[in-house]
Amino acid sequence: MRFLNKFCSSISIVLLLTIVLIGCSSNTNGSGGTNESGSNTGNEGSGEGASQVKLEILSWWTAGGEADALNAVLDGFHAANPDIKVENAAVAGGAGSNAQTVLSARLAGGEPPAIFQAQGGPDLLRWQEAEYLDSMTALYDEFGWKDVIPEELLQMNMKDNEIYGLPINIHRNNVIWYNKKLFDENGLQAPTTYDEFFAAADVLKAKGITPLALGDKNPRWSTLVLETVLLNQLGADGISELWTGNADFDTPEIREALSTYQKMLTYTNDNHSALDWQDAAELIVSGDAAMMIMGDWASGFFASKNMEPNVDYGWISTPSGEKIFNVVNDSMGMPKDFTDKEAAKKLIEYFGSVEGQKTFNKLKGSIPARTDVDVSDYSVYSQSAAQDFKESRIVLSLAGGSATPAAFINKFDEAVNMFTYQQDADALIATLNQARSILTGN
Ligand code: GAL
Repeated sequence: MRFLNKFCSSISIVLLLTIVLIGCSSNTNGSGGTNESGSNTGNEGSGEGASQVKLEILSWWTAGGEADALNAVLDGFHAANPDIKVENAAVAGGAGSNAQTVLSARLAGGEPPAIFQAQGGPDLLRWQEAEYLDSMTALYDEFGWKDVIPEELLQMNMKDNEIYGLPINIHRNNVIWYNKKLFDENGLQAPTTYDEFFAAADVLKAKGITPLALGDKNPRWSTLVLETVLLNQLGADGISELWTGNADFDTPEIREALSTYQKMLTYTNDNHSALDWQDAAELIVSGDAAMMIMGDWASGFFASKNMEPNVDYGWISTPSGEKIFNVVNDSMGMPKDFTDKEAAKKLIEYFGSVEGQKTFNKLKGSIPARTDVDVSDYSVYSQSAAQDFKESRIVLSLAGGSATPAAFINKFDEAVNMFTYQQDADALIATLNQARSILTGN
């Protein structure tokens, strides 16, 4: 019996030791923490990638073009950093409608991703105001980014002389995309004024073709359309003044822009409230619709559908009295609670590198934020965008999350969404005038 007891006790000791050993080997890589959660890094217990560090990147790049761009830049990173595995934790929903909610929960819950996508400016800085972000100033010095990132973009992500975001691209969102075959078949030219836009729309409507594809399941995309009409009505200075909160929304110009927008709605697909932007873009691809107003991530989407610029689709900037480039910028942020700083630093370094930005933007439909990236092998659309960026008035986009605090954009989205259905200009103007306090801080 005693022997048995002894035997049992030795068995249980061995067993216990084994469990501990297994436990230890799956957890620590010397910087502590659990893997898979992203907040802490870890090695895998066994098999391939045993010594790999795991990180997560959180974005909302899930549609054709943008997902391809993200995968391509991660492939490049993995090739250069075989000891690090980046998990793509993207959350679907245009303009970050869902990803930002997930990000907020993860930051508050101490489970931050290694890096995440935000819109440059107020959208990114709100996470710094909540004290979730690491400063990147030292990285800018180490990697020489101050010399290659345009000053406007750099300033966007700065607070109290510290830099909190890395701009990776420059998108333009005051663009009309059109199905070139439909335009050629109907003898139509790209519209340079709203009169021409409505004349083309009438021709298309008469042929049973949806003139304007819209997907405003996320009302941000209606905000975008209205923003481009306001750009035409108010110009670069007028619209920038509007986003300061110092200008009244109840003006004849804004009422005229609202009636133009109202008329545009009569040319859209009936199911627009059930679609996100890529679903609406799909209508251009299929030829069910002829035009769409969207950011140039649409050109990345069209490329992912093998649509050729100037062959299958065309583009023109939305009508405006002066050449305007309405900027949408994606910037990466780094949560300070993410423990494996070394690995996260390698990832952000790659996103800031010439190779990283060249790879990403070529598929994304945007132009690199870095000014020293050769884009001569980019699509003819992207090359024209790069030229326009040099020649145009640069305006920060409301719908792109860079012109005002998120709280104001959300109010604007709600008001536009109501207007889309109730078409009550007085109600919309009253809501926006009320929301000016968010802009002025009063
Ligand atoms: C924007 C973002 C773009 C693109 C677009 C569509 O907010 O800046 O990169 O992802 O949403 O979802």
